[in-house]
Amino acid sequence: MEEELLEWYDANGRDLPWRHTRDPYSILVSEVMLQQTQVERVIPRYHAWLERWPTVAALASTPAGDAIREWLGLGYNRRALNLHRAATKIARDGWPDDLTELPGVGTYTAAAIRRFALGEHVLPVDVNVSRVVRRTGAAFTPASAHALMDLGATICLARIPRCRTCPLADSCPSRGARDQPARKQSPFEGSFRQRRVAVLRLVTESTRELGALDHEAVRSLERDGLVVVEAGTVTLPA
Ligand code: ADE
Repeated sequence: MEEELLEWYDANGRDLPWRHTRDPYSILVSEVMLQQTQVERVIPRYHAWLERWPTVAALASTPAGDAIREWLGLGYNRRALNLHRAATKIARDGWPDDLTELPGVGTYTAAAIRRFALGEHVLPVDVNVSRVVRRTGAAFTPASAHALMDLGATICLARIPRCRTCPLADSCPSRGARDQPARKQSPFEGSFRQRRVAVLRLVTESTRELGALDHEAVRSLERDGLVVVEAGTVTLPA
């Protein structure tokens, strides 16, 4: 099956900016952004980020608050803080052998850096890769990492797989099968997450009086290190 997959990828693979680099920092930035944000929304933000902070050292020498500000709109803002903390750690100690020692880097992201930056023989398994592997029951090598991601993102969709255009359909035991609908993410509108983002946006614009803000949201952001409360005022971390 792998041969058919790689042939399909040659003709149909997505040309994504982070696939043109082997710089570990650039790959780290892209993978952290892609963790919970769609490819189309990530592309411009990836370019902007690397233009502003082209290296680990550049990011590490900037205030964490600037990273949080630059991140706004991508969602799950703790990722910005983790990325900044990771850069600080790498600037101080170098890249660790075990990449999961970096804040915000789990098994998948570590494997992606090892595969795409270091060229190691590991297959990073994200939800798309996992679905294709499960459905086909086939063994794929790390050479298929990008191809599996793209097949999972464009053809082997969870709810309505496009088996008629799938290069693996002839030998796929799951041809035509759909996955159960996933549990819907709870609505953002009216949620505590929304209250947190509203406060974070205000603090991003300027230092604020604690008394003028949603107190619960401030405390939650403070616990995550996204804001600092001092003498009754709320700011971004230095
Ligand atoms: N290419 C490399 N990593 C990727 C990812 N996480 N999503 C989509 N394309 C990628």
